[in-house]
Amino acid sequence: MTARNGVLITIEGCDGCGKSTQAALLCERLAACGLPVGPSAAPGAVVREPGGTAVGEAVRELLLHAPVAPSPWTEALLYAAARAELVDKVLLPELSAGRVLVLDRFLDSSLAYQGFARGLGVDEVLAVNAPGLRGLLPDLTVVLDVDPAVGLARAGGRPDRIEAEGVGLQQKVVAGFAALSRRFPERVRLVDGFRAVELVAADVEAAALEAVASAGLRLGG
Ligand SMILES: Nc1ncnc2c1ncn2[C@@H]1O[C@H](COP(=O)(O)OP(=O)(O)OP(=O)(O)O)[C@@H](O)[C@H]1O
Ligand SMILES: [Mg+2]
Repeated sequence: MTARNGVLITIEGCDGCGKSTQAALLCERLAACGLPVGPSAAPGAVVREPGGTAVGEAVRELLLHAPVAPSPWTEALLYAAARAELVDKVLLPELSAGRVLVLDRFLDSSLAYQGFARGLGVDEVLAVNAPGLRGLLPDLTVVLDVDPAVGLARAGGRPDRIEAEGVGLQQKVVAGFAALSRRFPERVRLVDGFRAVELVAADVEAAALEAVASAGLRLGG
């Protein structure tokens, strides 16, 4: 893998579980600890996925608001393409520069939604993502664990295409993330997201500081 000194933290979970809320709070808290958070062009900012690059934002628009739903493999490959662009243009250069990056969704969303919930297979979806990842995996993945009905109720408003598919899909997504935490226990941590924002944020921050510390230990030793 490309040499890097930074730390990659991804925030994951079903729709409406609180990812964007917690990702923003985590960036604030890590920055308050004096860490170089976010891309150097946008210090303190969360990187969102799909998106984070011009190509990625165009793919995001296509995926979330397409008038006709793409077939499952088309969807999986589009996410993988947007991710490859983000890895190449943002993540690898910024991590090499020692930045601490907080991502609102990443690889595990594809594994949980396309691999698990849509039934394409976790290994199959991992395989199409692998070339674009170029060996990069998160140091820490926080999965915000909530009842999917809670997530959908929180999301409210006008649902995007995936939210519109309802609670059945979200239940499979939640089960998918739980399976990923068992398969990749060294990096995937489930955090109970069905609590007050501040309590969730304290656990997310503690897990992130541990990851930062062990990245430092790796560097030192
Ligand atoms: N712990 C919490 N308790 C109650 N409400 C919350 C909590 N965390 C977030 N919310 C609220 O729930 C809604 C969804 O939160 P947020 O946008 O952070 O979720 P998300 O996972 O990013 O959603 P999406 O999947 O749509 O991107 C927001 O209105 C937010 O203020
Ligand atoms: Mg969000």
